[in-house]
Amino acid sequence: MNDNIERQRRKDEHIYFAVSQHNTKLQSQFDELELINDAIPMVNLADVDLAGEVAGLAFETPLYINAMTGGSPHTEKLNGQLAEVAAATGLMMAVGSMHSAIRDPKLASSYSIVRKNHPEGVLFANISADLSPIQAQQAIDILAADALQIHVNVAQELVMKEGSRDFDHWLENIAAIKEHVNVPVIVKEVGFGLARKTIMRLRDINVDIIDLAGKGGTDFARIENARRRDGKWDYFNDWGQTTAQSLIAIQSPNYVNMPYFASGGVRHPLDAIKCLALGAEAVGIAGVILAYLKEHDVEATIEWVEEWKLQMKMIAVMVNARNLSKLRKVPIVAYGRLKEWGELRGVKMEQLAQRLM
Ligand SMILES: Cc1cc2nc3c(=O)[nH]c(=O)nc-3n(C[C@H](O)[C@H](O)[C@H](O)COP(=O)(O)O)c2cc1C
Repeated sequence: MNDNIERQRRKDEHIYFAVSQHNTKLQSQFDELELINDAIPMVNLADVDLAGEVAGLAFETPLYINAMTGGSPHTEKLNGQLAEVAAATGLMMAVGSMHSAIRDPKLASSYSIVRKNHPEGVLFANISADLSPIQAQQAIDILAADALQIHVNVAQELVMKEGSRDFDHWLENIAAIKEHVNVPVIVKEVGFGLARKTIMRLRDINVDIIDLAGKGGTDFARIENARRRDGKWDYFNDWGQTTAQSLIAIQSPNYVNMPYFASGGVRHPLDAIKCLALGAEAVGIAGVILAYLKEHDVEATIEWVEEWKLQMKMIAVMVNARNLSKLRKVPIVAYGRLKEWGELRGVKMEQLAQRLM
């Protein structure tokens, strides 16, 4: 089968399985994190301002629609709709992997529609760690992107029958891309989490931002397992570290600072606020907004995002935080397996629980 037709079919199957496997009622490790209520906050709702800036990317709301799609007429429509939602609500937005447009320029419109519908938006192009620096810049140019996401997805590739088996050139290639391109580079997982040792390597090659993209939401091991139908990896679903674990691990004093986004399994505004309280510059949502849009329409999804934005500000009031820097000082208590994980990874869990505002 032609390479691009195969890729288009894979993209459509990813959407099908991501939506059919989506379940926000699942227990989440975010539930093992608790913020401390403040009964007499020193802030009014109208004064809460969650605007921020990182690596020259400025945003009013610390939320972005994470990488999902593009590369076919069906996904062009979806990208167009997601971009309408992002434009109406002021969210940042990433497109899905842009390989198909690099190989076949006729498919570029399925990505550039996002810039067309969100002309002033902060937009992220998306490629794998396999593309050349020149191809990376092509992807950026198609979208007139403000930043480039490079996804790293070893577990997905290995479970995927037709996936890649060679990875030892990735770090060097990411470094070459970072040197060549004219926008900030974000390295992201696709739902298995980024560990401290990986983050250190990325920091050493001057990557601008990492996106932890942990386990807890869309599960690409489960999706690829469903696609291959032979059951060989049935035991494997659930691989990786949750977003909560990844966020806790990087609170370690050994961690050398670099800006991070958090995404993966963010179900509602409270999960998003917990990510921000643990230092994320912004929070990404993929499966949850895709599932909502698929069941509703653009207008309803705009209202849904507006409600998220409002509730995030309301929760900020409940913990007496008028902005992102105050939120990062809110005491946050971890329980159960998450606490055990943090302690084993050398994080001073009491310090997080006893932070002073
Ligand atoms: C249908 C679908 C397609 C995706 N395609 C890509 C992709 O092309 N590139 C990428 O970096 N991540 C891709 N992702 C991963 C998301 O960006 C995100 O990291 C992951 O879904 C975890 O977030 P969630 O739990 O909010 O869905 C995709 C996710 C979904 C649901």
